[in-house]
Amino acid sequence: MALKDKVLNNEVPRHVAIIMDGNGRWAKKRGRGRSYGHEQGALNIKNIALEANELGIEVLSVYAFSTENWKRPKDEIDFLMQLPKRFEEKYKDDFKEKAIRVVFSGRRDRIGEDNKTFMEETEEKTKDRKGLTLNICFDYGGQTEMLHSMSSIAKKVEAGTLYAEAITLDTLKNHLYHPELPAVDLMIRTSGAKRISNFMLWQLSYAEFYFTNTHWPAFKEKQLQKALLNFQQRDRKFGGLLKKKR
Ligand code: IPE
Ligand code: IPE
Ligand code: MG
Repeated sequence: MALKDKVLNNEVPRHVAIIMDGNGRWAKKRGRGRSYGHEQGALNIKNIALEANELGIEVLSVYAFSTENWKRPKDEIDFLMQLPKRFEEKYKDDFKEKAIRVVFSGRRDRIGEDNKTFMEETEEKTKDRKGLTLNICFDYGGQTEMLHSMSSIAKKVEAGTLYAEAITLDTLKNHLYHPELPAVDLMIRTSGAKRISNFMLWQLSYAEFYFTNTHWPAFKEKQLQKALLNFQQRDRKFGGLLKKKR
């Protein structure tokens, strides 16, 4: 049986999150500059999003720029900042045809007006689509997202619209960037490093982790299928006991 059919024969994760690492190393191996790696990496989001949609995954979160990536050289940051808008041209027809909804997570106050407007318009334009939700994490940090949630809650307490005693785990969750998204089931990190690098700290609490040495621009449909097959063989317990013996 083809790998894809095997995957489709089992339960597919609702939410897959990917740390798209290794653009720079991938380009270096080919004697090219880091920008080339970032460009090919950005193009690859489309392949993987379309495949995720076909596989019936509900949400795909991708880590595109972290709150720590501002430490990089200015020319690299400038290049990364103009990627979202530039690639819309290459994505938009396929995404429309496949009814893919696009949302963004992250800070909006230091990425430039252009990006901010582009994100708002994209979210508005795609909001009623019923296919995959692609959550692009840009100027995103898990700790900053929790701070964002806590600040929003504090403002309500201060305004007297929320009692401090009424704050629950759900309150915290409901003030994250996109509370409507389910918890992450499978987190994939490409390019060999085995760390979270401040990605979706809240949402990853019971995610299964999958690490591969493949650099992000080389991570293709087959690799996604392989990761899903591996995920399907795991026993998830959520702190309880196994429901059924395999
Ligand atoms: C991931 O690739 C993309 C971003 C972090 C923006 P890197 O740029 O981290 O590539 P490596 O890790 O240096 O190879
Ligand atoms: C994580 O990759 C961030 C993104 C993929 C956007 P990094 O390359 O920034 O992570 P570290 O520095 O190796 O932890
Ligand atoms: Mg990296």
